[in-house]
Amino acid sequence: MAKLWGGRFRSEENKSMEDFNSSFPFDKRLYKEDVTGSIAHVHMLGKQGIIAREEADLIASTLQQILADIDAGSLLLSGLPEDAEDIHTFIEMELTARIGDVGKKLHTGRSRNDQVAVDMRQYARSACSHLTDLVRQLKEALAAKGKEYPCLMPGYTHLQRAQVVTFRYYMNAYVSMLERDMQRLTNTGDLMNRSPLGCAALAGTTHQLDRAMTAAELGFDGPVDNFLDGVSDRDYLLEMLSDMSIIMVHLSRLSEELILWSSSEFNFVEIDDAYATGSSIMPQKKNNDACELIRGKTGRVFGSLMGLLTTMKGLPLAYNKDMQEDKQGFFDAVDTLEACLTIMTGIISTLKVKEEVMKKSVRTGFLNATEVADYLVKKGVAFRDAHGIVGRIVIACEDRGKAIEDLTIEELREFDPVFDEEIYEFLDYRNILSKGIKKEILMD
Ligand code: ARG
Repeated sequence: MAKLWGGRFRSEENKSMEDFNSSFPFDKRLYKEDVTGSIAHVHMLGKQGIIAREEADLIASTLQQILADIDAGSLLLSGLPEDAEDIHTFIEMELTARIGDVGKKLHTGRSRNDQVAVDMRQYARSACSHLTDLVRQLKEALAAKGKEYPCLMPGYTHLQRAQVVTFRYYMNAYVSMLERDMQRLTNTGDLMNRSPLGCAALAGTTHQLDRAMTAAELGFDGPVDNFLDGVSDRDYLLEMLSDMSIIMVHLSRLSEELILWSSSEFNFVEIDDAYATGSSIMPQKKNNDACELIRGKTGRVFGSLMGLLTTMKGLPLAYNKDMQEDKQGFFDAVDTLEACLTIMTGIISTLKVKEEVMKKSVRTGFLNATEVADYLVKKGVAFRDAHGIVGRIVIACEDRGKAIEDLTIEELREFDPVFDEEIYEFLDYRNILSKGIKKEILMD
């Protein structure tokens, strides 16, 4: 295999070492970013007079052609013997094969260290914006589903029925989470948007490069401040992996709710057949595999974050080959999240909500107990005392197999004489939501 660095070596690389060292099988997905980075670099070399204009033009147009051929499938990145060390080597070898020695001038004033850094930043930046779009679509699906079903439902703490909310408000809790997720991705995209091209191996170059020009051509806000940092930094991947992990937490919690809610025990929702699977032995089964997979895949994304944190933590500046290990976990996390977001959007858009079951379950579990205490407080009882009184009412209701609203005013007065007819207004589940700041639940 031809080497870009073969000059100082007397003998061949061990074959297993060659395979061990190669990143081509996984970094070939950076081909577009690699070519566009190289075109920006060569435009700048030509403009600065570091190589002749005509040479720069020839290299740039050939790189364009290589990109077009890869896109069209006539230059294959797969199915061939993987005989390039990495995507950078592959593109440069192809260039030189097409235009001869001029191609060898492309790498003037550049190292693969700044080359891979600029490739990954471009890749991460567009992944950030694509993921933001997918999060937005899920957010819109959740908001729309909530609007479709503004019905009452129980809210829980400790997975025990607690207080009444609406299904719409519940969905909007996830909308809020996803809005923050989008903001986080946008912030991460903004922070990473500086170009490392021109940092070269670690210390810049004696050529008069125009880093601002390449940064602008590639859509960066400007070049990075420090050469050493530019080739060593992988913070932006860690930050994106954290953002992605947090999104997975949200998707996983939502998955867990849908798994619970679609069980016979809850029976609040039905997952559309399109997103469920059956059992090979139990004919009646309809399993919520999609949600279980999303919940399960959360571990992979967390794993990628932990993996890269661990890879980076002890590295001295600047580039070390350890950093080649940034790619597979990151790509896998992006692919995983894209798939999870797309599937979850489908699940939510097609979800059937059983309004009657939800409404009915609001009526058991004393979801209006806190409001009875609030009522007593309005009547001048101290909250702690009110809490105790309602606790005793709940015990009595349990004994008599009744809900609080089933008690007559006389029965209620056994616990405190201040009760009057107005209490029934505080016991009505929908009415509760029009009182005090609970109004926000209905307005949202
Ligand atoms: N494949 C390498 C990586 O992904 C490219 C950079 C190689 N740099 C070097 N000094 N060997 O990190």
